[in-house]
Amino acid sequence: MAGQGKMMKHSEPRYSVNERMQVLADAGRLTSRNADLHWLYENSVQNAEVEVDFIEKVYRAEFGKSPTSMREDFCGTALLCSAWVEKDETHTALGVDYDGPTLEWGRINNLAPLGERANAVTLVQDDVRNVREPKTDTIAATNFSWWGFKTRKDLGDYFRLVRSNLKDEGMLVLDCYGGPEAQVPQIEEKEEDGFDYSWDQDEFNPINNEIKCMIHFEFPDGSRMENAFEYDWRLWSMAETSDLLKDCGFRKVVIYWEGTDEDGEPNGVFEPSKTGDLAPAWVAYLIAFK
Ligand SMILES: C[S@@+](CC[C@H](N)C(=O)[O-])C[C@H]1O[C@@H](n2cnc3c(N)ncnc32)[C@H](O)[C@@H]1O
Repeated sequence: MAGQGKMMKHSEPRYSVNERMQVLADAGRLTSRNADLHWLYENSVQNAEVEVDFIEKVYRAEFGKSPTSMREDFCGTALLCSAWVEKDETHTALGVDYDGPTLEWGRINNLAPLGERANAVTLVQDDVRNVREPKTDTIAATNFSWWGFKTRKDLGDYFRLVRSNLKDEGMLVLDCYGGPEAQVPQIEEKEEDGFDYSWDQDEFNPINNEIKCMIHFEFPDGSRMENAFEYDWRLWSMAETSDLLKDCGFRKVVIYWEGTDEDGEPNGVFEPSKTGDLAPAWVAYLIAFK
């Protein structure tokens, strides 16, 4: 009987979290009780393949060759690391995050499906300020995670460490958002496949530029995941960040600004620019070259 039980178990279809969530999303049956937090985040916030292409394009434009090694600071579930090594068999990735369970989720759901290529990714559970090797061609700190460093001293210490962790032909990729709307408490909602996402700019302090934001999710049955993610940041401007990067030894900082389509809407294409349009809200990349 025990053998039979085992056989039945093995013959059951086994779905990964990603597959299970997609089936529930397609059927309109995601709820706050069955939805996976990291799957929701990845599917509403991240676009790793696009970011990999962008990093390669920017590196090639500066150094005339393709980067192979990439470090993802604040890597969370290491989605960018996974997309990086999946893109090219010469690519290697190092992901750093201090949250063990989030890294473990990434190991199971993003790295394991890569099979052998997962060996090209090293995940380190530590504060990004403690990891000093190996040197890589690029370091990416995206989705504004570097805004957790609120003082010039803390951010400067981080930038100096990053610079020393880059190869001689190396670059740091940071993202940044701004515009007048970035300082206004408000909720921005968007519909995703099977759930709704809200970005809640809850508080802004004009004295020190500290900002508190949350992500909430809502499901077709009306259930909600309130404060699914919470952020306590300083809204750094591009000008002060560029100055600080140069003070920390980076030789050049280039802003990649997003273009617009024929209706004036952001088109997802970022190009080097010295001027920005007066959009009420914008996202841009700061690229610092060693
Ligand atoms: C907003 S998530 C970013 C996830 C992903 N990289 C992305 O682009 O969406 C921020 C992550 O940074 C991690 N984190 C925040 N401060 C950190 C630090 N000083 N050292 C290491 N990890 C940190 C958190 O554990 C969390 O997983």
